[in-house]
Amino acid sequence: MTAAYERLMNCYESIRDKVSVRPKVALVLGSGLGDYADGIKVVSTLDYHEISGFPVSTVSGHKGRFVFGYVGEVPVVIMQGRVHYYEGYSMEDVVLPIRLMKQMGAEILFLTNAAGGVNFNFHAGDFMMITDQISDFVPSPLIGPNIEELGERFPDMSHIYDEKLCQILRETSHDLGINLQEGTYLQLTGPNFESPHEVRMCRILGADAVGMSTACEAVAANHMKMQICGISCISNLGCGMTDQPLSHVEVKETADQVAPKFKALITESIIRMA
Ligand code: HPA
Repeated sequence: MTAAYERLMNCYESIRDKVSVRPKVALVLGSGLGDYADGIKVVSTLDYHEISGFPVSTVSGHKGRFVFGYVGEVPVVIMQGRVHYYEGYSMEDVVLPIRLMKQMGAEILFLTNAAGGVNFNFHAGDFMMITDQISDFVPSPLIGPNIEELGERFPDMSHIYDEKLCQILRETSHDLGINLQEGTYLQLTGPNFESPHEVRMCRILGADAVGMSTACEAVAANHMKMQICGISCISNLGCGMTDQPLSHVEVKETADQVAPKFKALITESIIRMA
C-alpha cells in the first residue's frame, strides 16, 4: 500500500462516522459560490480543521468545510473551499479532498471555479462549461507510486468531462434561459495573474479560460473513473484583453454578481443528474 493511500484511508476512517449522507454528487464550490450550501437541505457539516492531516485553505473568501445534504432528492457532499497548489500544498494534498469524497461514495464530481476568459468571444460574467482541459503547467497529481486501489498507472484522458453530464448542463442552461459558453480550461499555478503574453500563449494553445485550480482535481477524479463535469464563471477577461488591471476583488465582485444564476444552474443540473 502506498503512503498516499494509507493517509487517505486514515483520513477517511477518522471521519467515517461523521458522514451523515452517502453522496451521489460531490460539488466543489469556486469563488463567489461559497454560500451555495446555505440554500440546500443541509444534514450536517464537517470543518476541515476537524479532519486529521487534512489541508486547510488560506485564501480569503474560502471557508473550509464539507457540507452534507440534499439538492432536491440528490444526496450531495459539497466542498465549501478548496486548497490550491499556489498556497504551497503538494498536489497530493490538493487532490486529497476529491479522493476522500470518492471514498464517501460520490460517483459524480461537479467542479466550479472562477476563471479568466482568454477567448475574445467571452465576456465577464459569462459561464463556460468545461469540455476539455490543459493541465500540463502544473505537476500531475498522479506523479509518484501509483495508487492501485484508486486507478491504473496510465489512465486514459480522452473524455475527462462526461458527455452525458455535459448534455444535462446544456439542456438545463437552455431551459433556464442561461447562456452557457463551452471551452477548454487551462490551469496555471498562480497565484499571480498572467501577463498579456501568457494570456496570448493560453489562447494559442487552444484554451478558452485560464485559472488556478480544477484541472488537477479532474485528473485525480478521472484516474478514479468518476464522472466529471465543470463550469467556470468567467469573472474577467485575461490580462491584456482590456485596459483594466486585474484584482482578486474584481474577480470576487463579478463572481458574486452572477452567483444567483450560477446557483440556479447548479441546482437544476444536479436534480437532473438523479
Ligand atoms: N487568471 C487566472 N485565474 C483566474 C483569473 C485569471 O484571469 N480570474 C479568475 N481566476
